[in-house]
Amino acid sequence: MTDYVIAPSILSANFARLGEEVDNVLAAGADWVHFDVMDNHYVPNLTIGPMICQALRDHGVTAPIDVHLMVEPVDRIIPDFADAGASMITFHPEASKHVDRTLQLIKSHGCQAGLVLNPATPLSILEWAIEKVDMVLLMSVNPGFGGQSFIEHVKRKIVATRALIDASGRSIRLEVDGGVKANNIGELAALGADTFVAGSAIFNADDYASVISEMRANIAQ
Ligand code: DX5
Ligand code: ZN
Repeated sequence: MTDYVIAPSILSANFARLGEEVDNVLAAGADWVHFDVMDNHYVPNLTIGPMICQALRDHGVTAPIDVHLMVEPVDRIIPDFADAGASMITFHPEASKHVDRTLQLIKSHGCQAGLVLNPATPLSILEWAIEKVDMVLLMSVNPGFGGQSFIEHVKRKIVATRALIDASGRSIRLEVDGGVKANNIGELAALGADTFVAGSAIFNADDYASVISEMRANIAQ
């Protein structure tokens, strides 16, 4: 049976009380914390870095922290995130000159490694990377901001990625990020995704537990 993961993106949390927000969303049933790192260079927005990841660990967060790097260059920040308590680190192949080296670097620091594919990025990069990835993250919006609408063609991409993962015979998570809501998560799971990032759908709700349980119920159908 598939082990589904819900990973709230703290991009939509209230940063003035981030520790409490993360405690609340985990108590509400979230599995992972999705941690969006933006550099105002690879993407036109600026967010948080390793210090905040370390602060969440020091605050007592033990759940996996899923670090999504939207930065360029990628490599020099990886050791800092590993030291700060990242569990998995994903990056955009366009932002690394040497994708295989970056994957190896992440794994050599004891983290799981993943590639993030933007809506128009082909899957072909996976042909010679799939043996080193623990996760493929499909962007279903263009990276940079929360609260955007799901880009429909990514549904076909989920199906194609699921086929590649199954053919590889490896245990690789298929994560979807952007515009994921309670009303489309069931379809995304049926298409082959197993890990779901949701920012605004969770943090803009009054009751995190009821959104997360609605999501889980819709995945199960
Ligand atoms: C966008 C980020 C997403 C974003 C998702 O660049 O990678 O994680 O926070 O936000 P929603 O769920 O609101 O689309
Ligand atoms: Zn993200």
